[in-house]
Amino acid sequence: MERSTDLVATIRGTGSVREFTDEPVDDATLTRILDHARFAPNGGNRQAWHVVVMKDPALRTALRELYLGPWRDYFAQTAAGFTPWAPVGDRELEDKVVDAARTSGDYDEIVRDRVEITFGAPIILAVFGDLERLVATDRDLGHYTMVAGASIYPFMWNILLASRSEGLGGVITTMHARVEPEVRDLLNVPENLSLAGVMMIGHPVHQPTKLRREPVQNFATVDRFDGNPFGVDPL
Ligand SMILES: Cc1cc2nc3c(=O)[nH]c(=O)nc-3n(C[C@H](O)[C@H](O)[C@H](O)COP(=O)(O)O)c2cc1C
Repeated sequence: MERSTDLVATIRGTGSVREFTDEPVDDATLTRILDHARFAPNGGNRQAWHVVVMKDPALRTALRELYLGPWRDYFAQTAAGFTPWAPVGDRELEDKVVDAARTSGDYDEIVRDRVEITFGAPIILAVFGDLERLVATDRDLGHYTMVAGASIYPFMWNILLASRSEGLGGVITTMHARVEPEVRDLLNVPENLSLAGVMMIGHPVHQPTKLRREPVQNFATVDRFDGNPFGVDPL
């Protein structure tokens, strides 16, 4: 099989877009995007995703407002120098930093500005995973499950790739997971569905293509976790 340079360029150069022009995107385009995305790999081919296409302006605004608090908390934790909501982390410190940001209101303005820009996207999608159809092989390990979401996120990544093929850009967001019950109430979503994320898609003001990522040698090792770095140079 031939190498596809287009595919490689797309994989390496599909950065997150959070600012969109006013140009609308029609339903046929979005249908095509979802039609391509559904070929994502997923556990047992259960295709446990459900997409709510947000059209009602009042619901879009309500969803936007729900993003503000978690996004502020995210900012505060990042500014304090740690990974927000890391499954393994110092929750006391987290609470302290988040409470301080809530009280001071330091981030409120910047957060609102950015969120209003991103929610100006012509397409907003709320993507859910059906907990009764996710093959979560790590369910019984007694820690945070890694595998469950892995049946939904390749689908969401495909949505971004398929959007790119239409000249569009977008972003996967997960702040709403902090307020999942409110989102479920707002969108009439049953309890067996868990929110994977909210995606904004549209015509990018700017499509980032130079992404910052660690080189292979920094994350791949031979034979054991503490083995020699893997990766030949030059690629
Ligand atoms: C699982 C996941 C959750 C993310 N959550 C958010 C989010 O809540 N808000 C946001 O603006 N971006 C979010 N992003 C986008 C990341 O911030 C982005 O991919 C990362 O910073 C790298 O930037 P780049 O995609 O432009 O290279 C998320 C991405 C993934 C895959």
